[in-house]
Amino acid sequence: MDSTGDQYWLPTEIIFGEGELDHLAEHVPESAKKILVVSGSKALRSEGVLDRLQAMLGNEKVVFYEGVPSNPVPQDIDNAVIAAVSNKCDVVIGIGGGSVIDVAKCVALLSTQPAPVKEFLRGDQAIKIPGIPCIAVPSTAGTGSEVTKWSTVWDPIEKRKYSLDHDFLYPRVALVDPTLTYSMPGWVTATTGLDALTQAIEAYWSKASQPTSDMYALAAVSKIINNLKQAFDSGDPFARREVAAGSLMAGQAFSNTRTTICHSLSYPMTANWGIVHGQAVSITLPVFLEANAEALAGKIDPLLEALEAPGLGDGVSSIRNLMEETGLKTRLNDLGIDQASLSKVIEEGYYPERADNNPVMYTPQEIHSLLQEII
Ligand SMILES: [Fe+2]
Repeated sequence: MDSTGDQYWLPTEIIFGEGELDHLAEHVPESAKKILVVSGSKALRSEGVLDRLQAMLGNEKVVFYEGVPSNPVPQDIDNAVIAAVSNKCDVVIGIGGGSVIDVAKCVALLSTQPAPVKEFLRGDQAIKIPGIPCIAVPSTAGTGSEVTKWSTVWDPIEKRKYSLDHDFLYPRVALVDPTLTYSMPGWVTATTGLDALTQAIEAYWSKASQPTSDMYALAAVSKIINNLKQAFDSGDPFARREVAAGSLMAGQAFSNTRTTICHSLSYPMTANWGIVHGQAVSITLPVFLEANAEALAGKIDPLLEALEAPGLGDGVSSIRNLMEETGLKTRLNDLGIDQASLSKVIEEGYYPERADNNPVMYTPQEIHSLLQEII
């Protein structure tokens, strides 16, 4: 008989701590001959981080693939796979934000079965074999991609988000060095931090939640709610460390539960209005916390405790206050989404299977009423 007990599984080795980047080479398989280092914007190059990596890993071993954009499209992945295969890379390191790590994970997987990523996204091709090892090194504190088995790919023509979803996408190693987040600009600190907070709370109220994911989720909520403002205001190293740890724990939580309604409604906001992910997912978090609270029954008190809130109204306010204090919008109108656009958000963002992971199964009409409250 199949087990009906709670299960938690995460095959990624996790290394956390200030200065751990200096030990990156120790986590690269000794047999590695060529390493593809995937990165995003120019920041890591101009800060000298990529040069450090090259010196540490060996000049002759490293091939750089730089310039992965936010919200990568299939061509970004296909180009990086060509770079990996043509250089005979046998390890991929993704260093950067969530999009960079998503691309690095895809490239590592598709390097052993190269074909346009669209064929896998559409289901025309199946993933048959594991990829080459991927080491994920986040330079932001929020997405949790370093410990999940999904990669998000955007289709700019269809204006929608696709997800590659496979156990082979879990990175071999997640190396989280909070010092890499010290130079994050305020806006990135705020939006990635609010993404992590939303992921933690969604993991906690998810129907798939279980004791281990709950433990990570509550710890993540507490670390982020208590430290994100200070990380945003002053960049204080302790606050940065706590937010980085909170982000990792949020990833450890939702890696086993998936996200729920806040994430699913965010995708059309990003695809159609260009709203940054952390802003798009968090704008509906307070209203769904209020709406989901009753269904959470005995689970609501530990969550409010983690939010340092005496009551539900205080918990909702503490999230809204944190958003406002870190420059995020709390009203859809301020993001350019007006009354007439609500139906488009719901039409494109309401997937029954994702909505079914929410503690309350809302109808599209009920979601419309809830979004009216934050118009
Ligand atoms: Fe997210």
